[in-house]
Amino acid sequence: MKSAKPHTLRLLHLEDSDLDHVLVLAHLHRGGLKVNATRIDSEAEFVAALLKPWDAIISDYNLPGFSGLVALDLLKASGRDMPFLIVSGEIGEDVAVEAMRNGASDYLRKANLSRLVPALVHAVEACETRRARARADLELGESKQRLRELAQHLQNSIEQERAAIAREIHDDVGGSLTALKFELAWIARHAESKDVVGRAHSALETVSHAIESSQRIMHNLRPAILEQGLVAALQWITGRFEKRSGVSCTLRTPRELPALPIGVPLVAYRVAQEALTNITKHAHAGRVEIDLSLAGGVLSLEVSDDGVGLSNDALGKARSFGLRGLHERARTVSGWVDVSSHPGKGTTLILSVPLPKVHKPVLEPMTASVEADPSRWGDL
Ligand SMILES: Nc1ncnc2c1ncn2[C@@H]1O[C@H](COP(=O)(O)OP(=O)(O)OP(=O)(O)O)[C@@H](O)[C@H]1O
Ligand SMILES: [Mg+2]
Repeated sequence: MKSAKPHTLRLLHLEDSDLDHVLVLAHLHRGGLKVNATRIDSEAEFVAALLKPWDAIISDYNLPGFSGLVALDLLKASGRDMPFLIVSGEIGEDVAVEAMRNGASDYLRKANLSRLVPALVHAVEACETRRARARADLELGESKQRLRELAQHLQNSIEQERAAIAREIHDDVGGSLTALKFELAWIARHAESKDVVGRAHSALETVSHAIESSQRIMHNLRPAILEQGLVAALQWITGRFEKRSGVSCTLRTPRELPALPIGVPLVAYRVAQEALTNITKHAHAGRVEIDLSLAGGVLSLEVSDDGVGLSNDALGKARSFGLRGLHERARTVSGWVDVSSHPGKGTTLILSVPLPKVHKPVLEPMTASVEADPSRWGDL
């Protein structure tokens, strides 16, 4: 016995006969086990004993007003995992099978205790292994949860950082470029030399180009179009996708949409954005369909293409974070993302977000949803 032998085994012995108790101890000593045993024989004592730490329980099957099977049930109900051996004078095969099914580690006849030591050692070791596995599972679960929280925190930090950069570009760079444009226009109007007018016009073109670029960068960082509602933002991103990729894209939206809870429009927008980016990068699609719908209190955004479909290793790629990020994003609003695909038959990505019941239907775009929209600069 690797783990139990070096220390004294704390043994709870459920046995009404003193003689049988001594017999069991004699077998254990003879087998080389150091044992610190406590004998009890009633349900009340057993319930009280369950609060203490034991390395193993050996139980008689028949006890006055109590039984090994009831003790086993009580142990199970306590939620503790402990080796439990039934040692009995008379035990039928069906009772033994039932005991094993209920979680007993082993059963032995009092008439033949030669197997007692190996059975006890095996039960203690098996229990130790189970406990170690349960500890490892718990740690793994906690670690996964921490990782999930970290990923969500990172997503939120990225959105806040993006919003801050977009705001600065808008207020600072955008403001300065607009002022510069006015100054240059004034110079162009008042300059007498043709050369200066020419230079001023060329500078105006450069500034206009820089303004367009800063607006584009701003939009990519934080789509201000979301201020006009999710539907408007989806229309905008769909149009831009069609223009850039040349792939035809149909958008279907409900005529009425409730005011969406904070965070939902941005998550839905980012899902559409990543899905369309993926289609551009991977799908070789000819058609794309985007469906925004509300059914049974669940908002769904479905993006499907008729492209090549996901390869077998697609979702396990170590360096691909787009779809993984979407799962984390969806969780931040209590939603989830499903991806389905058939080779050669395209890919469908669905975001589902259950909405709280309190929202009353209103038409989008509308100002009420702007108030609830986290994409407003002021909210961040
Ligand atoms: N619409 C699609 N059609 C075909 N394959 C796709 C589609 N969307 C995703 N994939 C496959 O799934 C993989 C994982 O996608 P994911 O968005 O997670 O990562 P990525 O696009 O490769 O990288 P990134 O981290 O920049 O998003 C892709 O590498 C691609 O092979
Ligand atoms: Mg991607």
